[in-house]
Amino acid sequence: MTQLAQHPFTLLSNSRFRPSETYGEHRSTLLNAGALARAQSVITTWPGYAQTPLCSLPALARSAGVASIHYKDEGSRFGLGSFKALGGAYAVARLLCRELGQQLGRVVSHADLQSDPALRQACADITVTCATDGNHGRSVAWGAQMLGCRCVIYIHATVSEGRKEAIARYGAQVVRTTGNYDDSVQEADRDARANGWFVISDTSYPGYMDIPRDVMQGYQLMVHETVNALPQWPTHVFVQAGVGGFAAAVCAYFWERNAQQRPVFVVVEPERADCLLQSARTGAVVAVKGDLDTLMAGLACGEVSLLAWDILATGANAFCTIPDAAAVDGMRLLASPTGGDPVIVGGESAVAGLPAALLAAQDSSARAALGLGPDSRVLLFGSEGDTDPALYAQLVGRSAAEVLRDGASA
Ligand SMILES: Cc1ncc(COP(=O)(O)O)c(C=O)c1O
Repeated sequence: MTQLAQHPFTLLSNSRFRPSETYGEHRSTLLNAGALARAQSVITTWPGYAQTPLCSLPALARSAGVASIHYKDEGSRFGLGSFKALGGAYAVARLLCRELGQQLGRVVSHADLQSDPALRQACADITVTCATDGNHGRSVAWGAQMLGCRCVIYIHATVSEGRKEAIARYGAQVVRTTGNYDDSVQEADRDARANGWFVISDTSYPGYMDIPRDVMQGYQLMVHETVNALPQWPTHVFVQAGVGGFAAAVCAYFWERNAQQRPVFVVVEPERADCLLQSARTGAVVAVKGDLDTLMAGLACGEVSLLAWDILATGANAFCTIPDAAAVDGMRLLASPTGGDPVIVGGESAVAGLPAALLAAQDSSARAALGLGPDSRVLLFGSEGDTDPALYAQLVGRSAAEVLRDGASA
């Protein structure tokens, strides 16, 4: 399989994008090189830290008529299966330093947390919480376990038992709520207020900015690793989005580092959960109603994170939506590559950038609108592996282990 079947997709050029706009002071207070260096100095000390692979897909690039396609594969990140390991856990670490610093009236560093038994004892009296449909909750639970604080995670009715167990494995108390995701957010919030717990959310809203900012700073380590491993600066980046924090962290990195040579930046969403595209079309943040029914569970978000919007509203060149079937084709394409490309296990929320890039490359007007051509160097972020193994096997037709075994023997 070297080519993607035709699928309907939408590409909206962002009329608010200004190529000469500077990164600016406002955005610099949010995501900057200093904050990334701090995140790097913390995260790289955690047990099991290793850079995730950056895979080159030359056969796919040839068939798409571009110079190169690189795919950063986050499936092995800290054994948690997704890039989210970088964000929630880092936000837990930052929160504990801030909170204990306030209690003790002195600066508490991450190194202090790890080396001082009295601080470790104090961490045990702090509880963090969040609502999640999977990856973010896993990261918060893992960070809490690593740093010795308590953790209560709320999941809604349809989160799979497998995902529940994956969170509980990190010592968190997992509470299953009866309603949908929004109900679980409200329940987490209510219990946090009643019990003096700290909500670690990956999305921002008025009055709640510090923790989602820390989450995004953690994500930037993934971009930094990628840029250091790339042979050349990319010309095009396609990134999938839920609330937009992940895409904004990537966009901000390129913008801050080299405003003159920003890659063409495309935000990709499921067609049934397109809050960023709708916000871009309207020119202001809009919430998408409805059941947000998509296989891409991590991207099934109806409301944009305000911090992310600050960056993407004028920083993204275009917004794109794809149907679920295109994402499934993307997973299969990575699982059964031809022409010598490596086999990659990408989960249903991981791969959306790939079909978006290939569909755009196959379509003459999208190709022209994005300036895709034989010299283009396309960068994609594969944000998870098979974080729901049963669903992965059902969609691809083989388990991740079988895909990798078949790839090794091919
Ligand atoms: C695998 C995966 N990719 C991408 C995203 C999107 O991240 P964000 O919600 O910050 O846009 C998520 C969110 O949960 C995810 O789990």
